[in-house]
Amino acid sequence: MSLSSEPFPREGGVLYAEGVPLSVIADAVGTPCYIYSANTIRARYQRLEQAFAGVPHHIHFAMKANSSLSILRLLQEMGAGVDIVSGGELFRAHEAGFGGNDIVFSGVGKTVREIEQALDQRVLLINVESEAELVTIDAVAGARGVVAPIAIRVNPEVTVETPHEYIKTGEKGQKFGIPRDDVERIAALAMALPHVALKGLGMHLGSQIANAEPMREALPRLLDVVTQVRAQGHVIEYLDVGGGLAVPYAPGEPLADVDDYAALIIAATRDWGVQLLLEPGRFIVADAGTLVTRVLYRKHAAGKDFVVTDAGMNDLVRPALYQAYHDIEPVRDTDGAITVDVVGPICESGDFYAKDRVLADVHAGDLLAVRTTGAYGYTMASNYNSRPRPAEVLVEGTRFAVVTERERYEDLVRLERAHLQWRSA
Ligand SMILES: Cc1ncc(COP(=O)(O)O)c(C=O)c1O
Repeated sequence: MSLSSEPFPREGGVLYAEGVPLSVIADAVGTPCYIYSANTIRARYQRLEQAFAGVPHHIHFAMKANSSLSILRLLQEMGAGVDIVSGGELFRAHEAGFGGNDIVFSGVGKTVREIEQALDQRVLLINVESEAELVTIDAVAGARGVVAPIAIRVNPEVTVETPHEYIKTGEKGQKFGIPRDDVERIAALAMALPHVALKGLGMHLGSQIANAEPMREALPRLLDVVTQVRAQGHVIEYLDVGGGLAVPYAPGEPLADVDDYAALIIAATRDWGVQLLLEPGRFIVADAGTLVTRVLYRKHAAGKDFVVTDAGMNDLVRPALYQAYHDIEPVRDTDGAITVDVVGPICESGDFYAKDRVLADVHAGDLLAVRTTGAYGYTMASNYNSRPRPAEVLVEGTRFAVVTERERYEDLVRLERAHLQWRSA
């Protein structure tokens, strides 16, 4: 077959990942498994890179979306940095080859140990989320005899439309960032503290933001804060505009208009003498991934039809957690249509991938592709119901490789102690 620009093209009635039939991978690796298109990830990264080519910028992939080392390495080779939110992500970033300069450290609750590790690895910026955290960073840096490069994450307090409450972050009353009215005071404190250098200001408005309005509203607020803190004598080199670019989940939904997004940000910030930092996660990897699962059973109960799959909410939690929509397609063309709930094997009624969905008339043994699962899929997977986490596979052209082995039962109990070493109180 000729290689298409579609990550998962359908050719001759079969769904492919780039040039490899999904059924070939499922037969070789088993199900459920996550399958990623390497060239789609590259294309998404390049798309964003080109949109900002005219101004100083650096893309820091939000690796919470997908922290598979193979994907991180692929992005690292393309020149990306990362946005991390934990010591574990710092460890992964280092394993994948990112240097400290490629790393910005976000997150609302960094521990002393995590701050120490970030300083030891000389990260580009630690994004400060509260006054208490600022004081802690100063103390940790002081104890190490260094000056911590920091940015303040500003909560611009704009109204944000997202498909689910849980993915809003830049609104008033959220736990994230420092409210814009408090930033001047906290920046003054940073000026007085000897072991921090305030080099940047940032924001992240939320995820899956489909229109430019929140950014249009928030940017001037962020720039007002730049003016305020520059007046205090801070040298602000970086402006972090966060992530949040929307991707289509349901058929017909558009991919975020990157050029509009870039034009808006570039026009507002061009004359401010800052390097832009971007923290996209979903946009880079979401539609580059699909979760392949096998139908275990068809079931008819209380007037409803169910398709029971071998993947459950432990493998992909987004439908249960966010009521997220994911397109579900049969891997092989199948005649007929049924209206069903697609459910997993987990003992929870929240364990579903779709409700009352019109689906191809699939039967036990058939493969289904749960689409647009490259972001917040595997990274949110768990061992609930003592289920080993699935395998991850990377496809590049006509070849594929397992990049994360399927967990084994032994892995489930690896950290548990058979012989307890009791300690006295
Ligand atoms: C601080 C920060 N930056 C970036 C992102 C990435 O968001 P998205 O995957 O929607 O681009 C998130 C997501 O939660 C975030 O919290």
